[in-house]
Amino acid sequence: MDPNVPSERLSEFIRGMPKAELHLHVEGTLEPEMAFALARRNGVEIPPDVADALRSGRPFTDLQSFLDRYYACSSVLRTEQDFFELAQAYLLRAAADGVIRAEMFFDPQSHAARGIEAGTVIRGLSRACREAKDRGLDAALLLSFLRHLDEKAAFETLEQALPFRDQFIGVGLDSSERGNPPEKFARVFARCRSLGLHTVAHAGEEGPPEYIQGALDVLGAERIDHGVRCLEDPALVARLRAARIPLTVCPLSNVRLRVCDRMEDHPLPRLLEAGLAVSLHSDDPAYFGGYLNQNYLQACSALRLDAAQAYRMARNGFEAAFVGAQERQRLLERLEAYSGSMGDRR
Ligand code: ADE
Ligand code: ZN
Repeated sequence: MDPNVPSERLSEFIRGMPKAELHLHVEGTLEPEMAFALARRNGVEIPPDVADALRSGRPFTDLQSFLDRYYACSSVLRTEQDFFELAQAYLLRAAADGVIRAEMFFDPQSHAARGIEAGTVIRGLSRACREAKDRGLDAALLLSFLRHLDEKAAFETLEQALPFRDQFIGVGLDSSERGNPPEKFARVFARCRSLGLHTVAHAGEEGPPEYIQGALDVLGAERIDHGVRCLEDPALVARLRAARIPLTVCPLSNVRLRVCDRMEDHPLPRLLEAGLAVSLHSDDPAYFGGYLNQNYLQACSALRLDAAQAYRMARNGFEAAFVGAQERQRLLERLEAYSGSMGDRR
């Protein structure tokens, strides 16, 4: 049932609403303060131009300008304890934003380049996930392949991660999209599917609608991360709607990485009007000016979306989560109960 919440209580409704975070790079939750502290602790130097950019919050010009800073900062992460503290800090923030299910990407290849084994990363992150569960936040991990690297590197990464197979639920595909089509990773994803791993892929963020099609047809992606450029292809929109393919949309990221100029220009209303299974997420919140609630609040305010639309997106998030039927029912019931109780308090 749609919530009955007056506009002056929309912000309160959003803040307290139970949510699923499905598009979040754990390395993208590294706040500047923690980056500088870990650099000191590990005796690593953040390059001076990157340190300046972090201090001043210098704007990004596109995805690549962000990735350059993001990989440079990720280099301060060295030990299992670093990864644990990173994820622990994020999960505490997420819980405060009403997140009750989190599926977090991690980029083992960016750490392998510094000689850090996949096991070090996975053990630290999984410890934080277990701890969060004790506090009522159900968290899981998705291993993400870097698409600017080649298929061989992806296969090697998968092999290194397989001893920890029980500690991640699926795989994704991220990094520089243009010029790196999904077809590059067809065989790696086929192997992942044969291992029973869930599959998702970034597509249609900066790349063309054909990459969304490829992610579905070639990689067997169950969800599309971003996907906003699907609107350029009406036949693709019809397909995404008919198959109810989830799109994990990140409004603050899209504005900061110049996918759109201003929040007021974001395609979210058009995606919703097209009947697509859109949910909102935060991508790399330490770099983009806000965590999950800020994505909801700023998008809803700039785009004049109401409580029913916010509720619909939260519902879509739980429907898209990689959980069993019983758990999904429990998550949806929590959202429904919340929405009902807010309506009663009018
Ligand atoms: N890695 C971290 N954030 C990303 C994004 N928004 N797109 C592609 N790769 C990423
Ligand atoms: Zn992303």
